[in-house]
Amino acid sequence: MNTSTQILTLAPLLILATLRVEAVDLAALKADAEITFREGVKPFVTNYCIRCHAPRLEAGINLKSALKNPGNTSSFIIRKKAVANAKTHKMPPIDAAKIPTEKERQQFSSSGSAASNT
Ligand code: HEC
Repeated sequence: MNTSTQILTLAPLLILATLRVEAVDLAALKADAEITFREGVKPFVTNYCIRCHAPRLEAGINLKSALKNPGNTSSFIIRKKAVANAKTHKMPPIDAAKIPTEKERQQFSSSGSAASNT
């Protein structure tokens, strides 16, 4: 076998190997996102937001359903708004029973780069 035949034979294998690495990375990313969501987003929203945003729907924002279906478009939009509101201290309202610490707000805001990109 000459060198160019060897390269031609190996090329598909190299491509396959690269694709495999990407698939593994995607799986890892997805697992990371799930952990962030479970540990960073859900407890924050449950502690500080749910009482006013589900089942009572202040401003039409149902955070409980957004938590249940994190992947759909309306949840994504709600999440963006939620992060913006928590970041700027607009939410929870100043007279709410429980107010998050600055650190908790920051963790929530950075929990999902797509959502905190506002
Ligand atoms: C004490 C009740 C209460 C709590 C707790 C609360 N909210 Fe709200 N929220 C409201 C009310 C009332 C409104 C509508 C009036 C307003 O916009 O100020 C509102 C409006 C909103 C809006 C819509 C504002 C807009 O820009 O359209 C978002 C998003 C929101 N809240 C997110 C959150 C998040 C995230 C939390 C938790 C960090 C939270 N809220 C906690 C009462 C609450």
